Amino acid sequence: MLNIFDAEFARAPWPVLRSLREAGGAHRVATPDGPPAWLITRYADVRAGLLDERLSVNLRYSGGGDYAGFAVPAPLDVFQSAAPERLARLRGLVVGELRLAGDWADRAAMLIGKSLAELDGVTEFDFVERVALPLPAVILGELLGLPESERDALAAWAHATLAPDASPRARDTLGGMQRIIAAVVERGRDGADDTMLGRLVRAGISGSAVDSGELPGLLFYLLFVWYEVLMDLLAGAVLTFSGRPDQLAAMLAAADRTVAVDELLRYLSPQVLAAPRFAVTDLEIAGQRIEAGQTVLFCLAAADHDPERFTGPAEPDGALELDVRRSPNPHVALGYGAHACVGVGLLRPVLAAMLGELYGRWPNLRAAVADSEVPWRSGFRHRGPLTLPVRPRGIR
Ligand code: HEM
Repeated sequence: MLNIFDAEFARAPWPVLRSLREAGGAHRVATPDGPPAWLITRYADVRAGLLDERLSVNLRYSGGGDYAGFAVPAPLDVFQSAAPERLARLRGLVVGELRLAGDWADRAAMLIGKSLAELDGVTEFDFVERVALPLPAVILGELLGLPESERDALAAWAHATLAPDASPRARDTLGGMQRIIAAVVERGRDGADDTMLGRLVRAGISGSAVDSGELPGLLFYLLFVWYEVLMDLLAGAVLTFSGRPDQLAAMLAAADRTVAVDELLRYLSPQVLAAPRFAVTDLEIAGQRIEAGQTVLFCLAAADHDPERFTGPAEPDGALELDVRRSPNPHVALGYGAHACVGVGLLRPVLAAMLGELYGRWPNLRAAVADSEVPWRSGFRHRGPLTLPVRPRGIR
């Protein structure tokens, strides 16, 4: 069995993923938690597998011998073990709400501008701690219409679990998350306001689109699930552009910056693996027999650097170079199929606005240390810089 998930893998998974892709499409690997799983590495197999109904995210199909991942506890589990109709209904609700939230680019840019203004004049700071970590709470607070006290609670949660010196992992802080969610629901009940939160809570109470038991789970996904990937993508983008001024210039000159956002998602792959899938029945992937009950991990990062699908120069370590003009860009960094990311309509314009505001203010923003000195978090399902010292006025 292969043991690949270590600290070096988080920083540069590309050499390992390249050799696994070349050696075969499916490999038995050990996970950091101990139990094994199948790792699927080639683009064609990952895309097909994410559509395969013989593989389920529902934990009840796990045979128990393989890695099973994090079981979202019952009150919060609205997506993992939902029947197809319920999944479609809830996904539709979130997508509809995000559409109702309108065009977020300008508001996001304004909020970011305010946060960045507080750092004007500071010559060097940790970009993760000062910008990437607090920003999602600011955006979420505004988007959902969170009252001040819950915004603060969310920011405190992020700091306690995701800051460089934090000890618990996000998934170990469910008690804290549930308290924030309960307070949000309680306040939302009274609100007659037309915020996304107010509408969701009222929909939960009236039982029209979401039943009250589903509401905490829905809020859990909206508040917490994507916090870390957004932060990882932002910090990763600043590090990546530090060594690629030509790519940065091309992104800033583009009429539509969401093209560059998609390429950053592909290149950085902040979510390395899709959620574990469990084989409902015996099946075959890339010539390997997978038994019912075994776990399959689709490696989105490996698929998105597969030269069989994406063209362009390869870096010496096996990564496929960043090309912010890449179009079309059929990456799977946001998943694919029934469980693909529902936040896509929001995150593209928000990230494009964040990057525009960041480099509009600090065109010479650069990492203050060499790539090799940047520590990376995780090494398994997510990846992103743990700390990133930057100089807003340049010099590297
Ligand atoms: C950089 C930002 C983001 C990245 C990289 C990302 C990535 C992903 C990926 C890869 C999946 C699919 C997992 C799988 O198939 O196993 C996913 C699912 C999901 N994402 Fe995102 N996401 C991001 C932002 C967001 C945002 C902004 C929201 C909501 C506002 C969101 C909500 C969700 C939800 C609810 C699911 C689960 C869908 C389901 O299971 O049916 N994500 N995300």
